[in-house]
Amino acid sequence: MESNAKRRAAEGALSFLEGAEVVGIGTGSTIMEFVDLMKPDARLYVPSSMETVRALSSRGFRVAHPSSVSHMDIYVDGADEVDADLNMIKGRGGALTMEKLLAHYARSRIFIVDDSKIVSRLGERGPVPIEVLPEALGFVEEGLRNLGLHFEERTCAGKRGPLMSDTRGYILDVEVPRDADPANLDNQLRSIRGVVETGFFLGMADAVVVGYSDRVRILT
Ligand code: 5RP
Repeated sequence: MESNAKRRAAEGALSFLEGAEVVGIGTGSTIMEFVDLMKPDARLYVPSSMETVRALSSRGFRVAHPSSVSHMDIYVDGADEVDADLNMIKGRGGALTMEKLLAHYARSRIFIVDDSKIVSRLGERGPVPIEVLPEALGFVEEGLRNLGLHFEERTCAGKRGPLMSDTRGYILDVEVPRDADPANLDNQLRSIRGVVETGFFLGMADAVVVGYSDRVRILT
């Protein structure tokens, strides 16, 4: 059911690519549905993770490393939670730093989600991921404790220590207190030196395409 809804969201986003020459592509299972629907063409695709590099190059798309482009017409990605103001939590796939970089520099940003991702409060379905400079792990964890925040180091089966992202940061999952204002919490997290990026994507979506089992809805 959920994968059908993801597929519908992906289908609903295809028309946003019209006229775009340089396209940023996010990470995750919903974006893989999107990639499955696309056909290799003259466009240049800028992936947000190694997983997406592999998916695009194995299907014959033209792939560019983010460092080799200076503009992007559009960025398309999934999300973990979306609230009524189209603020989001992302990064449960661990690619938040590159995803936020690409989303920031793209001229427009479209996010595709199944309806289970719509929430009334960010943090309702799970924690907000943050990426931390490995050398600063102890300092950052102490900073989080000082703010009274609960967190877990994201682990990876068979490996010791926290999960390392493609951008070589450790991923921590921070519980969002029920009464937290996402913008304030984002500022607090960013003010801890050693935090590289947070998974709060606030005010970044130009449109969110929501897939249901039987329809699609575009939120702007
Ligand atoms: C990866 C992400 C993904 O976009 C997010 O986790 C949604 O993934 P999925 O489409 O698999 O539910 O932010 O860092």
